[in-house]
Amino acid sequence: MDPIRLQDVRTNPRVIALVDGANAVMKAMGYTEHGHRHARVVSKRTRQIMEGAKLPPREIELGEIAAYTHDCGCSVNRQQHAQIGAALMFPVLSDMGLPPEEIVPILGAIGNHEESVSSLVSPMAAALVIADKSDVHHSRVQNPSPADFDIHDRVNCAATSSQIHFRDQSVLELLLEIDQQRASVIEYFEIFLSRMVLCRKAANVLGFRFSLRVNGTVLE
Ligand SMILES: [Fe+2]
Ligand SMILES: [Fe+2]
Repeated sequence: MDPIRLQDVRTNPRVIALVDGANAVMKAMGYTEHGHRHARVVSKRTRQIMEGAKLPPREIELGEIAAYTHDCGCSVNRQQHAQIGAALMFPVLSDMGLPPEEIVPILGAIGNHEESVSSLVSPMAAALVIADKSDVHHSRVQNPSPADFDIHDRVNCAATSSQIHFRDQSVLELLLEIDQQRASVIEYFEIFLSRMVLCRKAANVLGFRFSLRVNGTVLE
């Protein structure tokens, strides 16, 4: 039997329902998009980061699976969604035929992706944290009324581009473009400082220095 890959996981009906459910709960609570778009972006970036760190190919495939499913726990509750999501995914991945020794590292990465409870337990967990926290983009705003935007909506709305880039083989850089007509760079830091601190630690786990470039200015 061929190994289970991301394509198998993201087309699995139980995964589709969990990701849809996660986004429905987050939308009902007024949060930004946490559905298939976010899952796709985070899985692509996790691959990019793990490839940059020259991790083994199968570990990268497992990292993509962890990344695609990391917010599934939001279908149950926003609180403790990382740990809930890990518990939910064990039977799903097991029923799909993934062996336990491949599932367990995925659970550790999913269960440690939120900054309040995160320990950077593995390179996969570290890559997932950076991929997740770097997905700041105007397309994530799902509040239909600009008059009701909170600071998260404003900052996401102002983020016109957010990309990961490797520099000089030793620096992992997050390139951000912020439309300062919509939100200030200070507002970005007001809500993302703890996430950027976590990204710096995660980059170190992967053997890189973290750098943030906002509107062309490097902050290291
Ligand atoms: Fe999350
Ligand atoms: Fe996420």
